[in-house]
Amino acid sequence: MLKIGTIELNNPFLQAALSGYTDYPMRILAKRFGCALVLTGVMLDRISLHPKAIRQSKFHCRADEHPIAAQIFGDNPEVIAQSAVAFRKLSYDMIDLNFACPVPKVLRRERGGWLMRKPGIVREAFRRTRDAVDCPVTIKLRIGYDGSEAAKGDFWEIIENAAADGVDAIGIHGRTVEQKYKGKADWSVITEVKKRFPRMTVFGSGDLMDAATVMQRLHESGVDGVLIARGAIGNPWIFRECVALREGRQAEPPSLAEQAEIMLEHFEMIQKTRPGRRGVSFFRKFSIGYIRRLPKRKKALLPFMTVKDPALLRELIAEWFQKSS
Ligand SMILES: Cc1cc2nc3c(=O)[nH]c(=O)nc-3n(C[C@H](O)[C@H](O)[C@H](O)COP(=O)(O)O)c2cc1C
Repeated sequence: MLKIGTIELNNPFLQAALSGYTDYPMRILAKRFGCALVLTGVMLDRISLHPKAIRQSKFHCRADEHPIAAQIFGDNPEVIAQSAVAFRKLSYDMIDLNFACPVPKVLRRERGGWLMRKPGIVREAFRRTRDAVDCPVTIKLRIGYDGSEAAKGDFWEIIENAAADGVDAIGIHGRTVEQKYKGKADWSVITEVKKRFPRMTVFGSGDLMDAATVMQRLHESGVDGVLIARGAIGNPWIFRECVALREGRQAEPPSLAEQAEIMLEHFEMIQKTRPGRRGVSFFRKFSIGYIRRLPKRKKALLPFMTVKDPALLRELIAEWFQKSS
Protein backbone atom coordinates (compact mmCIF):
# COMPACT_ATOMS: atom_id res chain seq x y z
CA MET A 1 0.00 0.00 0.00
CA LEU A 2 1.17 3.52 -0.84
CA LYS A 3 2.06 5.51 2.26
CA ILE A 4 3.21 9.04 3.01
CA GLY A 5 4.80 8.58 6.41
CA THR A 6 1.96 7.26 8.53
CA ILE A 7 -0.80 8.15 6.06
CA GLU A 8 -2.12 5.24 4.04
CA LEU A 9 -3.45 6.06 0.60
CA ASN A 10 -6.06 4.01 -1.23
CA ASN A 11 -4.61 4.86 -4.61
CA PRO A 12 -1.87 7.02 -6.19
CA PHE A 13 -4.18 9.83 -7.36
CA LEU A 14 -3.90 13.09 -5.40
CA GLN A 15 -5.66 16.40 -5.84
CA ALA A 16 -2.82 18.88 -6.41
CA ALA A 17 -2.71 22.22 -4.64
CA LEU A 18 -4.41 24.85 -6.80
CA SER A 19 -4.50 28.29 -5.31
CA GLY A 20 -7.93 29.88 -5.77
CA TYR A 21 -9.49 26.51 -6.62
CA THR A 22 -8.83 23.81 -4.04
CA ASP A 23 -11.12 25.13 -1.33
CA TYR A 24 -13.57 22.81 0.37
CA PRO A 25 -16.04 22.36 -2.56
CA MET A 26 -13.42 21.21 -5.08
CA ARG A 27 -11.64 19.10 -2.49
CA ILE A 28 -14.74 17.28 -1.30
CA LEU A 29 -15.86 16.51 -4.85
CA ALA A 30 -12.39 15.17 -5.69
CA LYS A 31 -12.62 12.90 -2.66
CA ARG A 32 -16.10 11.72 -3.54
CA PHE A 33 -14.86 10.50 -6.91
CA GLY A 34 -11.94 8.59 -5.44
CA CYS A 35 -9.05 10.99 -4.91
CA ALA A 36 -6.75 9.56 -2.20
CA LEU A 37 -5.54 12.82 -0.63
CA VAL A 38 -6.30 16.49 -1.15
CA LEU A 39 -4.14 19.56 -0.70
CA THR A 40 -5.17 23.10 0.09
CA GLY A 41 -4.00 25.94 -2.13
CA VAL A 42 -0.77 27.43 -0.83
CA MET A 43 -1.16 29.55 2.32
CA LEU A 44 1.21 32.21 3.60
CA ASP A 45 2.99 31.05 6.75
CA ARG A 46 2.73 34.38 8.56
CA ILE A 47 -1.04 34.52 8.31
CA SER A 48 -1.44 31.39 10.41
CA LEU A 49 0.48 33.04 13.24
CA HIS A 50 -2.15 35.76 13.68
CA PRO A 51 -4.67 34.38 16.18
CA LYS A 52 -7.52 36.29 14.56
CA ALA A 53 -6.62 35.38 10.96
CA ILE A 54 -6.29 31.67 11.63
CA ARG A 55 -9.86 31.59 12.92
CA GLN A 56 -11.17 32.33 9.42
CA SER A 57 -12.94 29.30 8.00
CA LYS A 58 -10.98 29.45 4.74
CA PHE A 59 -7.93 28.12 6.58
CA HIS A 60 -9.77 25.23 8.19
CA CYS A 61 -10.39 21.71 7.00
CA ARG A 62 -13.52 19.71 7.74
CA ALA A 63 -14.06 16.29 9.27
CA ASP A 64 -15.03 14.68 5.96
CA GLU A 65 -11.84 15.75 4.16
CA HIS A 66 -9.21 13.54 5.76
CA PRO A 67 -6.54 12.79 4.74
CA ILE A 68 -5.77 16.38 3.83
CA ALA A 69 -2.53 18.34 3.58
CA ALA A 70 -2.04 22.03 4.33
CA GLN A 71 0.38 23.62 1.92
CA ILE A 72 2.40 26.61 3.12
CA PHE A 73 5.13 28.89 1.92
CA GLY A 74 7.33 31.57 3.44
CA ASP A 75 10.85 32.95 3.41
CA ASN A 76 12.04 32.07 6.89
CA PRO A 77 12.50 28.43 7.99
CA GLU A 78 11.59 29.16 11.61
CA VAL A 79 8.36 30.96 10.67
CA ILE A 80 7.49 28.17 8.22
CA ALA A 81 7.93 25.62 11.02
CA GLN A 82 5.78 27.65 13.43
CA SER A 83 3.11 27.93 10.78
CA ALA A 84 3.20 24.16 10.26
CA VAL A 85 2.48 23.74 13.98
CA ALA A 86 -0.48 26.13 13.72
CA PHE A 87 -1.97 24.19 10.79
CA ARG A 88 -1.35 20.87 12.50
CA LYS A 89 -3.40 22.19 15.43
CA LEU A 90 -6.24 22.72 12.96
CA SER A 91 -6.04 18.94 12.42
CA TYR A 92 -4.45 18.81 8.99
CA ASP A 93 -2.88 15.37 8.50
CA MET A 94 0.16 16.49 6.59
CA ILE A 95 2.22 19.60 5.84
CA ASP A 96 3.47 20.30 2.33
CA LEU A 97 6.10 23.00 1.87
CA ASN A 98 5.85 24.92 -1.37
CA PHE A 99 9.10 25.77 -3.18
CA ALA A 100 7.40 25.87 -6.57
CA CYS A 101 5.16 28.93 -6.85
CA PRO A 102 6.23 31.09 -9.85
CA VAL A 103 4.03 34.16 -9.19
CA PRO A 104 6.23 37.30 -9.54
CA LYS A 105 4.93 38.86 -6.32
CA VAL A 106 5.86 35.68 -4.44
CA LEU A 107 9.32 35.49 -6.04
CA ARG A 108 9.99 39.15 -5.21
CA ARG A 109 9.38 38.30 -1.55
CA GLU A 110 11.80 35.38 -1.78
CA ARG A 111 9.16 32.73 -1.25
CA GLY A 112 7.91 29.72 -3.21
CA GLY A 113 9.88 29.02 -6.38
CA TRP A 114 12.51 31.62 -5.51
CA LEU A 115 13.88 29.13 -2.97
CA MET A 116 14.69 26.60 -5.73
CA ARG A 117 17.91 28.64 -5.89
CA LYS A 118 18.55 28.24 -2.17
CA PRO A 119 19.03 24.55 -1.30
CA GLY A 120 20.30 25.49 2.16
CA ILE A 121 17.09 27.34 3.07
CA VAL A 122 14.93 24.53 1.64
CA ARG A 123 16.81 22.03 3.77
CA GLU A 124 16.53 24.11 6.92
CA ALA A 125 12.82 24.76 6.36
CA PHE A 126 12.22 21.04 5.91
CA ARG A 127 14.28 20.00 8.94
CA ARG A 128 12.75 22.58 11.27
CA THR A 129 9.24 21.73 10.13
CA ARG A 130 9.80 17.99 10.48
CA ASP A 131 11.14 18.52 14.01
CA ALA A 132 8.23 20.79 14.94
CA VAL A 133 5.24 18.63 13.91
CA ASP A 134 4.09 15.08 14.56
CA CYS A 135 2.82 14.41 11.03
CA PRO A 136 4.34 13.73 7.62
CA VAL A 137 6.11 16.65 5.95
CA THR A 138 6.50 16.78 2.19
CA ILE A 139 7.91 19.28 -0.29
CA LYS A 140 6.70 20.54 -3.64
CA LEU A 141 9.37 21.46 -6.18
CA ARG A 142 9.86 22.55 -9.75
CA ILE A 143 12.65 20.97 -11.85
CA GLY A 144 14.83 24.03 -11.26
CA TYR A 145 14.63 27.79 -11.16
CA ASP A 146 15.47 28.02 -14.86
CA GLY A 147 17.19 25.90 -17.50
CA SER A 148 20.75 26.83 -16.46
CA GLU A 149 23.38 24.36 -15.27
CA ALA A 150 23.48 26.15 -11.92
CA ALA A 151 19.73 25.67 -11.50
CA LYS A 152 20.05 21.97 -12.34
CA GLY A 153 22.74 21.70 -9.69
CA ASP A 154 20.48 23.37 -7.11
CA PHE A 155 17.63 21.02 -8.02
CA TRP A 156 19.71 17.89 -7.50
CA GLU A 157 21.16 19.26 -4.30
CA ILE A 158 17.64 19.80 -2.95
CA ILE A 159 16.64 16.26 -3.97
CA GLU A 160 19.75 14.69 -2.42
CA ASN A 161 19.24 16.61 0.83
CA ALA A 162 15.58 15.65 0.97
CA ALA A 163 16.42 11.98 0.46
CA ALA A 164 19.18 12.11 3.09
CA ASP A 165 16.87 13.88 5.56
CA GLY A 166 14.16 11.27 5.07
CA VAL A 167 11.47 13.45 3.52
CA ASP A 168 8.09 11.68 3.60
CA ALA A 169 7.46 12.46 -0.07
CA ILE A 170 8.26 15.00 -2.73
CA GLY A 171 6.02 16.40 -5.43
CA ILE A 172 7.71 17.58 -8.62
CA HIS A 173 6.12 19.78 -11.26
CA GLY A 174 8.06 19.12 -14.47
CA ARG A 175 8.60 22.75 -15.41
CA THR A 176 11.12 25.33 -14.24
CA VAL A 177 9.97 28.29 -12.15
CA GLU A 178 10.84 30.60 -15.02
CA GLN A 179 8.60 28.60 -17.37
CA LYS A 180 5.59 29.17 -15.10
CA TYR A 181 2.93 27.12 -16.97
CA LYS A 182 4.32 27.51 -20.47
CA GLY A 183 5.59 24.71 -22.68
CA LYS A 184 5.31 21.03 -21.95
CA ALA A 185 6.12 19.50 -18.59
CA ASP A 186 9.40 17.55 -18.68
CA TRP A 187 8.67 14.15 -17.20
CA SER A 188 12.17 12.86 -17.98
CA VAL A 189 13.56 14.70 -14.94
CA ILE A 190 10.79 13.33 -12.71
CA THR A 191 11.53 9.84 -14.05
CA GLU A 192 15.22 10.29 -13.32
CA VAL A 193 14.55 11.35 -9.73
CA LYS A 194 12.60 8.17 -9.08
CA LYS A 195 15.29 6.08 -10.76
CA ARG A 196 18.09 7.63 -8.73
CA PHE A 197 16.15 7.59 -5.45
CA PRO A 198 13.93 4.51 -5.65
CA ARG A 199 13.16 4.49 -1.92
CA MET A 200 11.91 8.08 -1.87
CA THR A 201 8.18 8.56 -2.43
CA VAL A 202 7.81 10.71 -5.54
CA PHE A 203 4.68 12.35 -6.93
CA GLY A 204 4.78 13.69 -10.48
CA SER A 205 2.91 16.70 -11.80
CA GLY A 206 2.43 18.34 -15.16
CA ASP A 207 -0.01 18.14 -18.06
CA LEU A 208 -2.21 15.47 -16.49
CA MET A 209 -5.40 16.47 -18.29
CA ASP A 210 -7.18 13.12 -18.63
CA ALA A 211 -7.18 9.67 -17.06
CA ALA A 212 -5.42 7.93 -19.96
CA THR A 213 -2.52 10.39 -19.78
CA VAL A 214 -2.34 10.02 -16.00
CA MET A 215 -2.02 6.24 -16.32
CA GLN A 216 0.57 6.51 -19.06
CA ARG A 217 2.72 8.92 -17.02
CA LEU A 218 2.40 6.81 -13.90
CA HIS A 219 3.44 3.71 -15.78
CA GLU A 220 6.28 5.22 -17.80
CA SER A 221 7.89 7.33 -15.07
CA GLY A 222 7.72 4.79 -12.24
CA VAL A 223 6.61 7.48 -9.77
CA ASP A 224 4.60 6.46 -6.74
CA GLY A 225 1.72 8.76 -7.50
CA VAL A 226 0.52 11.83 -9.33
CA LEU A 227 -0.75 15.28 -8.45
CA ILE A 228 -3.71 16.01 -10.68
CA ALA A 229 -4.09 19.76 -11.11
CA ARG A 230 -5.77 21.57 -14.03
CA GLY A 231 -7.18 18.27 -15.28
CA ALA A 232 -9.44 18.12 -12.21
CA ILE A 233 -10.92 21.62 -12.55
CA GLY A 234 -14.62 21.13 -13.21
CA ASN A 235 -13.76 17.49 -13.73
CA PRO A 236 -13.79 15.50 -10.47
CA TRP A 237 -14.62 12.38 -12.53
CA ILE A 238 -10.98 12.19 -13.60
CA PHE A 239 -10.33 10.46 -10.26
CA ARG A 240 -13.08 7.86 -10.82
CA GLU A 241 -11.75 7.23 -14.31
CA CYS A 242 -8.17 6.82 -13.04
CA VAL A 243 -9.28 4.37 -10.34
CA ALA A 244 -11.22 2.35 -12.92
CA LEU A 245 -8.27 2.17 -15.32
CA ARG A 246 -5.94 1.17 -12.49
CA GLU A 247 -8.26 -1.68 -11.59
CA GLY A 248 -8.37 -2.83 -15.19
CA ARG A 249 -11.92 -1.61 -15.74
CA GLN A 250 -13.15 0.77 -18.42
CA ALA A 251 -13.27 4.42 -17.49
CA GLU A 252 -16.95 5.32 -17.68
CA PRO A 253 -17.47 9.01 -18.37
CA PRO A 254 -20.23 10.73 -16.40
CA SER A 255 -23.64 11.06 -18.02
CA LEU A 256 -24.87 14.56 -18.84
CA ALA A 257 -27.36 14.29 -15.98
CA GLU A 258 -24.56 13.51 -13.55
CA GLN A 259 -22.45 16.36 -14.89
CA ALA A 260 -25.34 18.77 -14.38
CA GLU A 261 -26.00 17.46 -10.87
CA ILE A 262 -22.38 17.78 -9.71
CA MET A 263 -21.84 21.15 -11.38
CA LEU A 264 -24.94 22.47 -9.64
CA GLU A 265 -23.87 21.00 -6.30
CA HIS A 266 -20.45 22.63 -6.67
CA PHE A 267 -22.07 25.97 -7.45
CA GLU A 268 -24.45 25.73 -4.46
CA MET A 269 -21.50 25.01 -2.15
CA ILE A 270 -19.75 28.10 -3.48
CA GLN A 271 -22.90 30.16 -2.96
CA LYS A 272 -22.69 29.42 0.77
CA THR A 273 -19.41 31.31 1.13
CA ARG A 274 -19.80 33.65 -1.83
CA PRO A 275 -23.50 34.41 -2.16
CA GLY A 276 -25.22 36.01 -5.14
CA ARG A 277 -23.41 37.43 -8.15
CA ARG A 278 -20.01 37.26 -6.46
CA GLY A 279 -20.31 33.48 -6.37
CA VAL A 280 -21.43 33.37 -10.01
CA SER A 281 -18.36 35.22 -11.24
CA PHE A 282 -16.10 33.15 -8.97
CA PHE A 283 -17.64 29.96 -10.39
CA ARG A 284 -16.77 30.92 -14.00
CA LYS A 285 -13.33 29.34 -13.79
CA PHE A 286 -14.95 26.05 -12.77
CA SER A 287 -17.64 26.32 -15.45
CA ILE A 288 -14.91 26.30 -18.11
CA GLY A 289 -13.89 22.89 -16.81
CA TYR A 290 -17.42 21.55 -16.47
CA ILE A 291 -18.47 22.46 -20.01
CA ARG A 292 -15.33 20.87 -21.47
CA ARG A 293 -17.13 17.55 -21.84
CA LEU A 294 -20.16 19.05 -23.63
CA PRO A 295 -20.39 18.22 -27.35
CA LYS A 296 -21.44 21.85 -27.94
CA ARG A 297 -18.85 23.35 -25.59
CA LYS A 298 -17.81 26.13 -27.97
CA LYS A 299 -21.33 27.48 -28.16
CA ALA A 300 -21.84 27.04 -24.42
CA LEU A 301 -18.80 29.12 -23.52
CA LEU A 302 -20.31 32.57 -24.11
CA PRO A 303 -23.49 32.11 -22.05
CA PHE A 304 -21.58 30.50 -19.16
CA MET A 305 -18.89 33.20 -19.19
CA THR A 306 -21.31 36.11 -19.25
CA VAL A 307 -24.06 34.98 -16.87
CA LYS A 308 -24.29 37.09 -13.72
CA ASP A 309 -27.40 36.00 -11.89
CA PRO A 310 -27.42 32.79 -9.76
CA ALA A 311 -30.90 31.77 -10.93
CA LEU A 312 -29.87 32.16 -14.56
CA LEU A 313 -26.75 30.08 -14.03
CA ARG A 314 -28.90 27.31 -12.57
CA GLU A 315 -31.14 27.53 -15.65
CA LEU A 316 -28.14 27.44 -17.98
CA ILE A 317 -26.86 24.26 -16.34
CA ALA A 318 -30.25 22.56 -16.70
CA GLU A 319 -30.64 23.76 -20.27
CA TRP A 320 -27.19 22.99 -21.69
CA PHE A 321 -26.66 19.63 -20.11
CA GLN A 322 -30.03 18.54 -21.47
CA LYS A 323 -29.63 20.21 -24.83
CA SER A 324 -26.50 18.29 -25.69
CA SER A 325 -28.07 14.87 -25.08
C1 LIG B 1 -4.29 28.31 -11.12
C2 LIG B 1 -3.21 27.45 -10.54
C3 LIG B 1 -2.92 27.53 -9.18
C4 LIG B 1 -1.92 26.74 -8.62
N1 LIG B 1 -1.68 26.81 -7.28
C5 LIG B 1 -0.72 26.01 -6.72
C6 LIG B 1 -0.50 26.03 -5.33
O1 LIG B 1 -1.14 26.77 -4.56
N2 LIG B 1 0.46 25.20 -4.84
C7 LIG B 1 1.19 24.35 -5.66
O2 LIG B 1 2.03 23.61 -5.17
N3 LIG B 1 0.98 24.32 -6.98
C8 LIG B 1 0.03 25.12 -7.52
N4 LIG B 1 -0.21 25.03 -8.86
C9 LIG B 1 0.55 24.07 -9.67
C10 LIG B 1 -0.20 22.73 -9.79
O3 LIG B 1 -0.35 22.10 -8.54
C11 LIG B 1 0.51 21.77 -10.75
O4 LIG B 1 1.75 21.38 -10.21
C12 LIG B 1 0.72 22.39 -12.13
O5 LIG B 1 -0.45 23.06 -12.57
C13 LIG B 1 1.12 21.34 -13.17
O6 LIG B 1 0.11 20.41 -13.39
P1 LIG B 1 -0.91 20.51 -14.66
O7 LIG B 1 -0.06 20.88 -15.84
O8 LIG B 1 -1.48 19.10 -14.73
O9 LIG B 1 -1.90 21.56 -14.32
C14 LIG B 1 -1.17 25.85 -9.44
C15 LIG B 1 -1.47 25.77 -10.81
C16 LIG B 1 -2.46 26.55 -11.36
C17 LIG B 1 -2.74 26.44 -12.83
